[in-house]
Amino acid sequence: MLNSFWNWFVIIISVGSILACWWLLHWTKGVSDRSDDDDGSTGHVWDEDLRELNTPLPRWWLHLFNITIVFALVYLALFPGLGNFAGIKSWTQVDQYNAEVAAAEQVQEQIFARFADMDGNALMADAEAMETAGRLFGNNCAMCHGSDGRGAKGFPNLADNDWQWGGSHEDILTTLNAGRMAVMPPHDAILGEDGIREMVAYVQQLSGQKADAELAAAGKSRFMVCAACHGAEGKGNQLLGAPNLTDDIWLYGGNPGDIEYTLLNGRNGVMPAFNQLSEMHRKLLAAYVKSLSGS
Ligand code: HEC
Ligand code: HEC
Repeated sequence: MLNSFWNWFVIIISVGSILACWWLLHWTKGVSDRSDDDDGSTGHVWDEDLRELNTPLPRWWLHLFNITIVFALVYLALFPGLGNFAGIKSWTQVDQYNAEVAAAEQVQEQIFARFADMDGNALMADAEAMETAGRLFGNNCAMCHGSDGRGAKGFPNLADNDWQWGGSHEDILTTLNAGRMAVMPPHDAILGEDGIREMVAYVQQLSGQKADAELAAAGKSRFMVCAACHGAEGKGNQLLGAPNLTDDIWLYGGNPGDIEYTLLNGRNGVMPAFNQLSEMHRKLLAAYVKSLSGS
C-alpha cells in the first residue's frame, strides 16, 4: 500500500498526463484554423519558395490517439494503476502467479500419480519416468555433475559404476536427502615432506600406475595412517565417502601433482542436500542416477 502522498502523486501524474495528451490533441487539431496566410500555409518559407502547408492531421490518425486515451482510461478502471485503487477486476500479479502455479502443480500431480507406487527398478524401466527425471537432473544437478552426469574435477562421475557413498537406490536417496560432506584431512604434518613423496608413489602404485618401487614400499609402510578411512587395502569405505584408491577413477585427478595436493591440503567435497525437492522428485532422481551407471 502506498501512503496517501504517494497514492495521490501516482494518481495525479497518471490522470494528469492522460488529460495533457487529450488537450494536446485538441490544441493541435485547431492549428489549421490559425493560418497566417490565405494560401493555407503557415507563412514559413524556406529557400525562397519552399512553404510549409498548414494541413490538419488526418482524421484516422487522430482517432488512433483518441483510442489510446480511451484504452488508458478503461485499463486504469479495470486494473491497478491509480495509486491504491485495486481496479474493478481486483487483479493482482500474486494471484495470477499463484493460479498458474496451482494449475501447473495439478498437471504435475497427474503425471506423478502414476509413479507414486513404483519402486526404483520400476521407475528405471519406465521411459516417461526417466524422461521426467532427466529434466529434473538437468535443472538441479547438471550444473555440477554435467548434463550427461559424467562430472568434472571435484564433481563425481555418476555414470560409471564407482560409488564413493554407495550406489544402491537407498544410498543415492540418502545422498539426496541429507547431502554428503567428505572429510579428507591434510596430512602434511603427519607425513612430512619425504612421507608425502613416498605416499604419492604408493597411491600411484595402488591405482596401477608406474611408480618408484622403493618410494612406494616406504609409503606402504605408513599406510596405516590412511587405513582408518580408506581401508587396509585402500579399497575405500562408503560409510565415510572415502574413495577406492585401487581403481584408476579419480575425483581430483590421479597424476602425482594432484595426489600430492590432496595429501598436503586435504579435500572436502560437499554434495548439497536436496530436501527442498519433493520426495517423489528425489525418488525419480535416485532412479535416474542409477540408470546412468547402467546398473
Ligand atoms: C553444487 C554442486 C552439486 C550439485 C548441484 C549436485 N551435486 Fe551431487 N555431488 C557434488 C559433489 C561435490 C559430490 C561429491 C561429494 C564428495 O566429495 O564426497 C557429489 C556427490 C553426489 C553423489 C554421490 C556419488 C558417489 O559416488 O557416491 C550423488 C549420487 C550425487 N551427487 C547426485 C546428485 C544429484 C542427483 C543431484 C541433483 C539433484 C546433485 N548431485 C546435485 C556436487 C553437486
Ligand atoms: C578421515 C578419513 C580419511 C583419512 C585418514 C584419509 N583419507 Fe583420503 N579421503 C577421505 C575422503 C572422505 C576422501 C574424499 C574427499 C572428497 O570427496 O572430497 C578422500 C580422498 C582421497 C584421495 C582423492 C581420491 C580421488 O579420487 O581424487 C586420495 C588420493 C586420498 N584420499 C588418499 C589418502 C591417503 C594416501 C591417506 C593417508 C595418508 C588418506 N587419504 C587419509 C578420507 C580420508
